[in-house]
Amino acid sequence: MRSFLMILTLCVAAASCSQKSEMDAFIDDLMGQMTLEEKIGQLNLPFTGEIITGPDRDPLAIESIQAGEVGGLFGLTGLDRLTELQRIAVEETRMGIPMIFGADVIHGYETVFPIPLGSSCSWDLEAIENSARISAIESTAGGLCWTFSPMVDIARDPRWGRIAEGAGEDPFLGSRIAEAMVRGYQGADKESQFSQPDQMMACVKHFALYGASEAGRDYNSVDMSRLRMYNDYLPPYKAAADAGAGSFMASFNDIDGVPATANRWLLTDLLRDEWGFDGFVVSDYTAIKEMVAHGIGDIETVTCRALDAGLDMDMNSRAYLEHLKNGLEKGIVSMKQIDAACRRMLEAKYKLGLFEDPYRFFKTENPEEVIYCQEHRDAARKLAAESFVLLKNENNLLPLKKEGTIALIGPLADNGVNLNGTWSVTADNHKNKNLREALEDAVAGHAKLLYAKGSNLVYDADYEERAYWRDGYDFNRDDRTDAQLRNEALAVARKADVIIAALGESAEMSGENSGRTDITIPDAQADLLKALVATGKPVVLLLFNGRPLILDWESKNVPAILDVWFGGSETGDAVADVLFGDVNPSGKITASFPRNVGQIPIYHSIRNTGRPLPEGEEYSKYTTSYLDSRIDPLYPFGYGLSYTTFEYGSVKLNKEVVAAGESLIAEIDVTNTGKKAGKEVVQMYIRDVVGTTTRPLRELKGFEKISLEPGETKTVKFEITPELMSHYNYDLDFVAEPGEFIVYIGGDSTTKNSASFTLE
Ligand code: BGC
Repeated sequence: MRSFLMILTLCVAAASCSQKSEMDAFIDDLMGQMTLEEKIGQLNLPFTGEIITGPDRDPLAIESIQAGEVGGLFGLTGLDRLTELQRIAVEETRMGIPMIFGADVIHGYETVFPIPLGSSCSWDLEAIENSARISAIESTAGGLCWTFSPMVDIARDPRWGRIAEGAGEDPFLGSRIAEAMVRGYQGADKESQFSQPDQMMACVKHFALYGASEAGRDYNSVDMSRLRMYNDYLPPYKAAADAGAGSFMASFNDIDGVPATANRWLLTDLLRDEWGFDGFVVSDYTAIKEMVAHGIGDIETVTCRALDAGLDMDMNSRAYLEHLKNGLEKGIVSMKQIDAACRRMLEAKYKLGLFEDPYRFFKTENPEEVIYCQEHRDAARKLAAESFVLLKNENNLLPLKKEGTIALIGPLADNGVNLNGTWSVTADNHKNKNLREALEDAVAGHAKLLYAKGSNLVYDADYEERAYWRDGYDFNRDDRTDAQLRNEALAVARKADVIIAALGESAEMSGENSGRTDITIPDAQADLLKALVATGKPVVLLLFNGRPLILDWESKNVPAILDVWFGGSETGDAVADVLFGDVNPSGKITASFPRNVGQIPIYHSIRNTGRPLPEGEEYSKYTTSYLDSRIDPLYPFGYGLSYTTFEYGSVKLNKEVVAAGESLIAEIDVTNTGKKAGKEVVQMYIRDVVGTTTRPLRELKGFEKISLEPGETKTVKFEITPELMSHYNYDLDFVAEPGEFIVYIGGDSTTKNSASFTLE
């Protein structure tokens, strides 16, 4: 068996070796014929489309493509147009090198899935991989071959708007999701990625540490220890690289005082030399020229520094195009460096099969039958429902019965465009049902649904305009006064048996450059909610948000809270599924919900400190605590309720003492003790009690989502491998240090259910 496996491995290695040497020979030959200008042209990625994602824009310069100055384009869609542009690249340039076409397909192309923070709350890796797979099928049917996803930045500061785009605060979960997304886009089998024309290249972003922007302000500086980088922030990028991701995007921020775009340690020493990444690195939007504003040199200097650092492709700065040649003539950069970058771009095109067939991604038969088809929408509806998190459900108010009169109130209730969330830039945001329509469909013939808007998004009209900036949004501010809007809503509420308050953020209140310093429900809506609760009718808060919000008042005064994030194109039906109990909610939050802004940054894997707060206390002098607030979050990482209840048995380990290099098994019985079938995310955390450096109080190291019928018990097993016991030590060696470990298993990150073992 062993020798058979060895032979097989050798054959696979030989096959990929020969493919590589074929590719090398092809590219050697091609590059042998290319001029310097043509090589630099391959490194140029101008923005010429209409999907606005940044400040500058070039007119679509056909002459530039014809001159061989363009390696790829991004931000534009339309099969016919892309086909024609590719024809120009292939037929009207001297070398005939095809272009790559990229776009921000972050959570779906036309079929829109929940925002990534929402999807991550499903903890359903298969469904998440499938969402990326569907995105690739639809994008490639639309002519794209490259997506600027997955965004794998760890984020522990919910003021930062881009927390919406990633998988939350945890590196273990973030890594598993990063791998799943890469598999979904590029192909499940690493050896045969891109073999099908419905597989596209992933671009892992934003490399690196972008989620740690100071004060939650976008594009801001980042400064952190290597220890924290290696243990907490870098793992998801590495996991994506290990999964075979074809490209990386450098982040806007600086690291150790050097912008990532020109950070040689980051892009070369770490990414290529230490991790063995062999794809290409693209800058973020105009990030090369932004290094002038960062203050590290004039345009020529920063351009040369970017190339020298290992940055291959220039997104929309025209800096490589206009300044690399000078840099070469002055000897600041070398021909070898330009060649290396050009080779990586050509390799990506080769891997995508574009040299074999430049029109490979324009050949889906009947794309209109593939894009936004029922099968894809069903998958989106399912994942949306799984992403919703039931934060509170006093007296089992939910699920609602389809009977009597239901009042649907709030500025987010009758607004379809909002549901798709922040990065639905390739979708037609007018196609999907809005919440009101979906609920009307769901209760038709059973119950009466009344509606009132109740308030604008916020009192301040200027703020509201900023929060709805994107073209096509139909949230025209209501001309009625705040009092008129509220009185209408209260009149509607009084007629109802139950109130559904659809409140929270607009889609563009999170995402890029949508930082907030006050992350409560916006004022006008918070007041509306208070008035609705004061009617004495039962209120369900249906919360739309791209970040954890502060829900102090709501958690005490509103009986039921269902967090639905931005669930994508099928949100409306998915909300109906969960509200009326056809689907039992199973989402668990992946970023802690703080009690107040002062607690930020906030995350579960904190360290003990030398003066820990005594167990059970809220404040104690000379311990790590606040005078005016508890230190724990309102809703902890991993938390989420269900319409049923689960009971955990005790944690059993098959060994108390573990020899170095060995694994052990942890197991636990989980029982559905309620009356409904449900899914539970069983989570395993490990504490490395003593280390040569301070270690977190607990770290997520395993999870499994299981389904249980009422009364059913399942035994869940986790293998704790040496890798799971390891961390990066002070010298940045990945080690499992001997000593005591505590294993916690439960339904969220605060579980006390544990057992311990000693590693020899
Ligand atoms: C964002 C990236 C995005 C790029 C291209 C930038 O502003 O930071 O996440 O991929 O634009 O649209």
